[in-house]
Amino acid sequence: MAEDFDVKMESKVYYPDPSIKETVRMGDYEAVYNEFIQDPQAYWEKVANELKWMQKWDKVMEWDHPYARWFVNSKLNITQNCLDRHVHNGKKNKVAIIWVGDGGEERVFTYRQLYREVMRCANGLKSMGVKKGDAVCIYMPLVPEQIILTLACARIGAIHSIVFAGFGTQALNSRIKDSNAKIVVTADATIRRGKRVELKAIVEEAVVNAPSVEKIVVLRRMTPPMELYSEMEVDYHEMLSDIPECGPEVMDAEDPLFILYTSGTTGPAKGIVHTCGGYMVGAYYSTRNVFDLRDNDVFWCTADPGWITGHSYIIYGPLLNGGTVLITESTPDYPDAGVWWSIIDEFDVTIFYTAPTAIRMFMRMGADWPNKYDLGSLRLLGSVGEPLNPEAFEWYYHVIGKERCPIVDTWWQTETGMHMITTMAGQPMKPGFIGKSLPGVVADVVDKNGVPVPAGTGGFLVIKEPWPSMMRTVHNNDERYRQYWTTIGKYYTAGDLAVKDDDGYIMILGRSDDVIIVAGHNIGSAEVESALVSNAAVAEAAVIGKPHPLKGEILKAFVILRVGYTPSEKLKSELIYHVRMSLGPIAMPSEIDFVDSLPKTRSGKIMRRVLRAKELGMDPGDVSTLED
Ligand code: WTA
Repeated sequence: MAEDFDVKMESKVYYPDPSIKETVRMGDYEAVYNEFIQDPQAYWEKVANELKWMQKWDKVMEWDHPYARWFVNSKLNITQNCLDRHVHNGKKNKVAIIWVGDGGEERVFTYRQLYREVMRCANGLKSMGVKKGDAVCIYMPLVPEQIILTLACARIGAIHSIVFAGFGTQALNSRIKDSNAKIVVTADATIRRGKRVELKAIVEEAVVNAPSVEKIVVLRRMTPPMELYSEMEVDYHEMLSDIPECGPEVMDAEDPLFILYTSGTTGPAKGIVHTCGGYMVGAYYSTRNVFDLRDNDVFWCTADPGWITGHSYIIYGPLLNGGTVLITESTPDYPDAGVWWSIIDEFDVTIFYTAPTAIRMFMRMGADWPNKYDLGSLRLLGSVGEPLNPEAFEWYYHVIGKERCPIVDTWWQTETGMHMITTMAGQPMKPGFIGKSLPGVVADVVDKNGVPVPAGTGGFLVIKEPWPSMMRTVHNNDERYRQYWTTIGKYYTAGDLAVKDDDGYIMILGRSDDVIIVAGHNIGSAEVESALVSNAAVAEAAVIGKPHPLKGEILKAFVILRVGYTPSEKLKSELIYHVRMSLGPIAMPSEIDFVDSLPKTRSGKIMRRVLRAKELGMDPGDVSTLED
């Protein structure tokens, strides 16, 4: 439990230049928070009124614990706010997307161009029979078409389910099946470090035993173009219609916009469902205020749209605000460790949003790389996905931000849709601490009964009140949704352990469940275990997270072999390869130990906590439920 953590509560404090507080939109955090807490619904209504609706709501919110409806009975289409609004308000020729390829190639889309491409794609999807409410699985590299497809789905009311292209066959298959996807869109390949990495081959295997899939659309990027065989396969460009206009589907605020899968403690990944109205308001609001996004900003979020960070802060948030986003298919160390800094220099990036793993990797490669480039365009830095340790904070602040740029360390989840906790630009920053609730959010640290714990005592991170972009259900598993809101009192339980200091700043201590965060990506122990057990050699497996200086945590597996198999280095490699093929490279165990038994409760549940304590030389805590 939380008390096991040795927490250093004192932290250095960085006071940003007062000019920042005066110029950013939410410089006066306390005043804005007070305005929110006095009348939460009026606060959110004011935000929603900044956007375009086909029909406004009868009521801002209806709360029937644990079910919320936001902007009740309103009608909208999120793409009208991402595209039409800007095209018709003088931003036709403003740059919406700058794409940089792995080899430095560039593609630029103005709002007008993006609008036309989305409409052609939306008409194309329609011509293939995709209708409102149908699910479309997008398994694509980070290219503009990935964004175009996402928006095209939203335009016609289809539910997009983006799957990160680093996932393997098994992971993709289970996501396609759970979402009942009618169409899967992919590309022939992605380019990583100058090399071609096949994607379509994975899709071919993943659609076997997925009867809902009618067509596979393939973006062919390579020359000579890959052959398309069966009648099921359609070329992306042939699917596009010539007509660059497509009326927006009328969506109720509570109609689903997308499903996005995230790893859980037990069983397969959970399909988190977000809806059109509330999600739109949350993504718009947080981008506008946490990043203080302005008209002349160039905003670079290094995530992939396959994760929630990409949904909210590459696609929807920036486009809802009429911003300019930069995306790149490139990796941070190819062709050399200066490539990302060269992109900031070349494109005058003003806001840079990345993950602690990347920052730690850059730290290790040394300050000489960023120092070669002019980073003077930067004005705000962000971090997300895992704890930003004080050493990484310091490096980011001094070497990249040159002590000028505030750092917003943003805590949130796939389930929350938008940022929940951060230190707003202009506020004092404490390395190691995230900060406080965003205005609009009521976060706290409580004990298992829901009672707030005093400063300095570890507890569970909860959100006490509903917010517009909260998930509405877990697809095909509403019971699992209810658990989020019924585990600790009537609060939303985030699954993280945290502690507050005397100023109310929150520090994240880690997960309270068996989700492991490797390089900022959530990996469910259960998913990796079941991938291992699907190998003929494995009888039982348990997977834990082990601290790692660069990646935050790595996966370590304990494996009991079936009779007839003997432990060997070769078998270890085979098992690692097996997980790579089924779940993808991001879920590969870094270490495997062959063991004769695993610690279990009397009911047969593996006690990963005990394994982890033993591995790390820690006290295993309460072991009274241990079998022997
Ligand atoms: C962790 C990513 C510390 C946390 C947006 C959370 C963080 C999980 C931070 C959600 C942060 C996210 N500091 N930990 N700034 N941001 N986390 O769903 O454990 O991929 O519960 O959403 O990542 O991961 P998810």
